[in-house]
Amino acid sequence: MKFLVINGVNLNLTGKREKGVYGTATLADINAKISAFCAQNGDSAEFYQSNIEGELVNKLHEAFLNKTCDGILLNAGAFTHYSYALRDAIASIDIPVAEVHISNVHARDEFRHKSVISQVCKGVVCGFGSASYIAAIVGLKETLTK
Ligand code: DQA
Repeated sequence: MKFLVINGVNLNLTGKREKGVYGTATLADINAKISAFCAQNGDSAEFYQSNIEGELVNKLHEAFLNKTCDGILLNAGAFTHYSYALRDAIASIDIPVAEVHISNVHARDEFRHKSVISQVCKGVVCGFGSASYIAAIVGLKETLTK
């Protein structure tokens, strides 16, 4: 299976910003861990990061129109909490999307408790650091093999 891992706004600074919240692993470290996990299971992963909302929407459209992957992991960063454009893009495509967060958003600021994308995602994983992405792959695989 092929997974597309999309990270949104500010996630390029992972491992460098707010280390007490997001840890010290960089996005490259996390992506390497995902690649290794996928390889163990005969799967593969493509990675994309952008700080620009419309580029994330374009990437979702491209995956759908060109059938580039079987499942998508999306850590939209703060866009999670207010981007109706991302929500509509996820609802527009027939590829299952897993919402992922490094931190436990429910144990943080009130504004992070609301996600406008959860409703249109297959599942949500948060709070396990880089392992949130791995858990999301396990969940998507289960969904895709049923
Ligand atoms: C995040 C949680 C969001 O609330 C925050 O805006 C981020 C990262 C996470 O991975 O924990 O940028 O998505």
